[in-house]
Amino acid sequence: MTSIWHQTVQIAPRPALEQDLTVDAAVIGAGLTGVLTGYFLAGQGLKTVILERGRIGCGQTGRTTAKITSQQGLIYQTLIRRFGAGTAKKFAQSQQEAVALYQQLIQRLHIDCDFEPASAYLYGSGNAALLKSEAEAAASLGLPASFCGPGALHLPFETDGAVRFDRQAQFHPLKFLDALSRELCIFENTPVTKVRGGKLLAGGHTVCARAVVFAAHYPLWNLPGLYFTRLSQQRAYCLALENAPLPPGMFLDVKQDGLSLRRHGAWTILSGMDHTTGENPRGGRYDTLRQTARRLFGQCREIACWSAQDAMSPDLMPYAGRYSAAAPQWYVASGFDKWGMTRAMWAARQISGMICGQNTNGLPVRRINLATAGAVLKNGVQSVKGLTRVYFAAAPQLAQLPRGHGGIFTLDGRKTGAYRDDQGRLMLVDPRCTHLGCLLTWNPDERSWDCPCHGSRFDPSGAVLDSPAILALKRREAPAQKP
Ligand code: FES
Repeated sequence: MTSIWHQTVQIAPRPALEQDLTVDAAVIGAGLTGVLTGYFLAGQGLKTVILERGRIGCGQTGRTTAKITSQQGLIYQTLIRRFGAGTAKKFAQSQQEAVALYQQLIQRLHIDCDFEPASAYLYGSGNAALLKSEAEAAASLGLPASFCGPGALHLPFETDGAVRFDRQAQFHPLKFLDALSRELCIFENTPVTKVRGGKLLAGGHTVCARAVVFAAHYPLWNLPGLYFTRLSQQRAYCLALENAPLPPGMFLDVKQDGLSLRRHGAWTILSGMDHTTGENPRGGRYDTLRQTARRLFGQCREIACWSAQDAMSPDLMPYAGRYSAAAPQWYVASGFDKWGMTRAMWAARQISGMICGQNTNGLPVRRINLATAGAVLKNGVQSVKGLTRVYFAAAPQLAQLPRGHGGIFTLDGRKTGAYRDDQGRLMLVDPRCTHLGCLLTWNPDERSWDCPCHGSRFDPSGAVLDSPAILALKRREAPAQKP
């Protein structure tokens, strides 16, 4: 399940860290946010190192649909209501500026990354009045927004029209990342396993830094900040299709679980089937998306399928700035919802500006308040469910576990996660998440162990796929065969 971005770009490998270092800034994570932050810091003359657990772009940057847009779902009416027109305008403009910044950077550095200006459409069915009022709200904040009727869309299904944003863009995220990262000091296969103040343990070596930026999709440290109480994680599934004609533009359904579509060269990227991480017990998400593709595009051909994970903030705005008042050297970027391209650029500018002592156009510091309490509570309930979940089968049923499947079993009185691979080999793990101990669930679509509490994911052997977990699952031995 390799995305079309990874299928079409190979980023040259970098070495792992092999010595202790002292730098001005250490950035954790070599995805778009980390690399952009590193780029801006290095541009200000700061000695900067980027520490990546895996490979450059191996996380969500290589799995996105790569829309660069200030149109981020049905948010602007809510932001005005929740934060007031002044803050909503500041945020809206920061996102539109981020689109322009990509264009400037790409032109200045002559980056060949399939960058294309495009309009973004938020379409809907049965909710034209809502779309019109969203268009008005966005336009009132200075965004290039308008309502367009159904006749203007030419999609392969009926709509009641869309909120149209002009002056947006799309690109190939890994071509961009590859070009931007070339001159930066990046160490791959160098997981950060401990951070105390400005001292990091990375790949077994010590890095001392004046500033530490957590840019690895999800804040890795529970304290301070308690981000795990505020962020939830969602998964979405993508197909790249040939012979699936689509008009120019980037399209998104106003419904939470609707479809997203865009072109990339000769291909159409279709995505959807979202769910909270850890809540996919029956699977079938790719199959349903394939049925949708056949319904919409008839004889289309699948080129690639992959999935992505998004960290969702409780109040629609991302976190970008100081990690916590209790950790003055630390900075955080997360909670980009599904808008990682635009928000990564904005967060990188924001954080690098703060580290360099420049004036920044920051968002208000958000503490848990009435507006976010509901989401925090929901996350808490989700965690309790994950800690107390009890659906597991008894040991005798392990023998019936089919190839390519996984599940939780009771073996020798202990809950055990079991996966049988396509060759019939059994892999057993302790199914307690190494983040805070929730019981993991098997995701049949991706053959992974997913955590319903805060979204960590592990491969069948227990290796970490997605944070906040840092440590792998413990492996278990197969039960001895009875003579
Ligand atoms: Fe927090 Fe699993 S991600 S307990």
